[in-house]
Amino acid sequence: MFHTVGLTLKNRMSEAKKLYESLSLVGSVSLAISLPWIIFRVCKALYLQKGLNELFGKVVVITGASSGLGEALAHEFYKQGCQVVLCARRRQELDRVRTDLLHTHSTIQTHPPIILPLDLSNIDSLAENVKKIIAVTGKIDILINNGGVSHRGSVLSTQTNVDMKIMMVNYFGTTALTKATLPDMVKRKEGHIVFISSVQGLVALPERSAYSASKHALQAFSDSLRAEVSAYNVFVTVVSPGYIKTNLSLNALTGSGASYGQMDQTTTNGYSPEYVAKKIVKAVAEKKKEIVISTLLPKLAIFLRKYLPFLYFFVMVKRAKKCNLKQ
Ligand SMILES: NC(=O)c1ccc[n+]([C@@H]2O[C@H](COP(=O)([O-])OP(=O)(O)OC[C@H]3O[C@@H](n4cnc5c(N)ncnc54)[C@H](OP(=O)(O)O)[C@@H]3O)[C@@H](O)[C@H]2O)c1
Repeated sequence: MFHTVGLTLKNRMSEAKKLYESLSLVGSVSLAISLPWIIFRVCKALYLQKGLNELFGKVVVITGASSGLGEALAHEFYKQGCQVVLCARRRQELDRVRTDLLHTHSTIQTHPPIILPLDLSNIDSLAENVKKIIAVTGKIDILINNGGVSHRGSVLSTQTNVDMKIMMVNYFGTTALTKATLPDMVKRKEGHIVFISSVQGLVALPERSAYSASKHALQAFSDSLRAEVSAYNVFVTVVSPGYIKTNLSLNALTGSGASYGQMDQTTTNGYSPEYVAKKIVKAVAEKKKEIVISTLLPKLAIFLRKYLPFLYFFVMVKRAKKCNLKQ
């Protein structure tokens, strides 16, 4: 009997030993995998915090700051202690945003926001506006090229002067302002230029030819610029958001140049401007070269356009037919 008990005990002990050995193997493997991941996450969080701390006191010029994403960006950068310069055409709206900033973040020790009405389509005025900003603030650290206008209409129904208007604001005005800002950054060997493009700067949709073309042009301009100014310690970030709940579709131009005046369902269901603005501030702090802020479907469209273009062309033909039926 003692012999049997002894045997059972021995068996149990060897089972326990095996279990212990396999558990310690699992433990070592998971530690080997998770430890580098934890270290990576901690380093990333520290890098982000360092970037956010460095934003304090920076002069940030934001175009299109009178509404939507630009307004949300003004709040986010202001919260980080930046001196924000708010630019757009409507002075009254800029005043409203400025007052709102001062009231909402009254506890934050920071520089009062500056407003500067400007029209991106008035190319000749932009260099003068940059001089005005530098005369007051001494420098521009970060330029956020956010002001823009969208388009609704087929290629056939869109007048060429509408294509030109959209291109003028989204591309020529934006790049002219960038060129006017750059020399000072290059001289100081410090600066950051941000372009708010769109998912439609990576994939074009039917009925958006002018808008998509202007945003594609911005992407190409940014890639050239990034390489050229890297030697001067000037960073370039391109942001490609999906739909955001703003007035963009209301203000979009139709083929005749009239305001579209409708809030699209896709826009209503889009991200909040505050969410997108937070992501952009993080991307600036981390000096990211580009980010896409979207749900899975637009990311899938970008993938298809690049790797399976025939599928993308097929889906877009279907989408164009649907647009035709709606009209
Ligand atoms: N909403 C979306 O779904 C979405 C998606 C991807 C990318 N984006 C991009 O996000 C940026 C901001 O748009 P949003 O969505 O916030 O739309 P929004 O509310 O219509 O804002 C557009 C801003 O651009 C300014 N703007 C328009 N024309 C201008 C001009 N000629 N000169 C100077 N400023 C001008 C407007 O100000 P004034 O009228 O006062 O001049 C306004 O502040 C745009 O570049 C847009 O392409 C938007």
